[in-house]
Amino acid sequence: MAFQAPKGVPEYFPPDSAAFLAVRDALSAPARRAGYGYIELPVFEETALFVRGVGESTDVVSKEMYTFDDRGGRSLTLRPEGTAGVVRAVIEHGLDRGQLPVKLWYAGPFFRAERPQHGRYRQLQQVGVEAIGLDDPALDAEVVQLADAGYRSLGLTGYRLELTSLGDAACRPAYRALLLDFLGRLDLDEATRQRAQLNPLRVLDDKRPEVQALLGDAPLMVDHLCSACAAHYDEVRRHLAALGVAWTEAPRMVRGLDYYTRTTFEFVHDGLGAQSGIGGGGRYDGLMSSLGGQSLSGIGFGLGTDRTYLACLAEGLSVGDAARCDVFLVPLGGGAKDAVVVLAGQLRSAGVRVDIAYGDRALKGAMKGADRSGASYAVVLGDRDLDAGEAQLKDLRTHEQDAVPLIDLLDLLKGKLL
Ligand code: HAM
Repeated sequence: MAFQAPKGVPEYFPPDSAAFLAVRDALSAPARRAGYGYIELPVFEETALFVRGVGESTDVVSKEMYTFDDRGGRSLTLRPEGTAGVVRAVIEHGLDRGQLPVKLWYAGPFFRAERPQHGRYRQLQQVGVEAIGLDDPALDAEVVQLADAGYRSLGLTGYRLELTSLGDAACRPAYRALLLDFLGRLDLDEATRQRAQLNPLRVLDDKRPEVQALLGDAPLMVDHLCSACAAHYDEVRRHLAALGVAWTEAPRMVRGLDYYTRTTFEFVHDGLGAQSGIGGGGRYDGLMSSLGGQSLSGIGFGLGTDRTYLACLAEGLSVGDAARCDVFLVPLGGGAKDAVVVLAGQLRSAGVRVDIAYGDRALKGAMKGADRSGASYAVVLGDRDLDAGEAQLKDLRTHEQDAVPLIDLLDLLKGKLL
């Protein structure tokens, strides 16, 4: 039987992988321009890190983790998200002992045992940032703006930013009690009641119309923020407006992870069907201390690279350069082949992307290879050309062909391409 990739794992290969790489670069470029340093994290961590960091009441922890025992009997889990690992690394390596905030970015695969469908994968890719150590609303605005700038640089327009504040340890408990009291007076089914006890905010996010109909008068966190949280939220919005980032208020937003406090956001794309969240994030004031570090707040995002790629497809955007090379070298004969191998090395050292028609193919087959490579130029070199010190340079877009002196070829191509 032929092998297949595991269910729910997307693969990217040429020519489409060029667009995937371009998306990943575009999403991380704004952070790289804003002083974020790269962090390479383990793909698996101690299971308890995610249980404590992400929260036992979440689907991610209770249903979706890939957990296994290693050979020493330790429970490990494939990372379902990046924030807990970053915070663990900051604490473990004392990165918070220097200048604050600590600004880090990361990219790579994360693992969630979800039911696979279009845009919902078991191995998903994210580009993320975390800025840890300061509770400055201007930093919240920066993080949101970096995500927006990434999407924009790809040419995406069919998305919106949903924003809210989830309060903090000062005001959330009183609001939670208020919401529980409200939910307790509704005619809800038993499963929903139980969910309310675990985390009443999750009921606000119930997609069933009959439940939504009952929630019209539900109290909202944004109406019950303490004065410090309200002032923080006002400042964030003031900065976002000044940065030209538009948002819609989403007072019923509930994120899938438990650590969020204050500023919380999601980017939603209209062209993806049910899996519309292309990125999200927010502030997490208690996470550092709950994982054993100093009491420092942080804010960050995770942008879905797979879904952003799908969003680009949905908007018909062509991103990335699918061409494998700029110049395709075609040798016709043994002496020509030796010369072409050397020429390819010289051109590549000069920064030109070059491929060769290997396998001693005849001209027609070799030129098909040239067309498929996406190259702009083909250089055809026969043994007779070699004796004359010439090569045939063909512009593959205009189909014009010229004989050019071999000694000029390198400079000529560099001039055309670099
Ligand atoms: P998250 O909302 O769970 O947040 O994931 C971030 C993004 O990853 C989502 O908006 C979505 O685009 C993508 N994503 C999540 N699950 C899947 C999936 N099964 N298939 C495809 N794409 C998916 C976090 O992970 C937080 N760590 C973000 C964060 C960083 N908050 C603060 N700092």
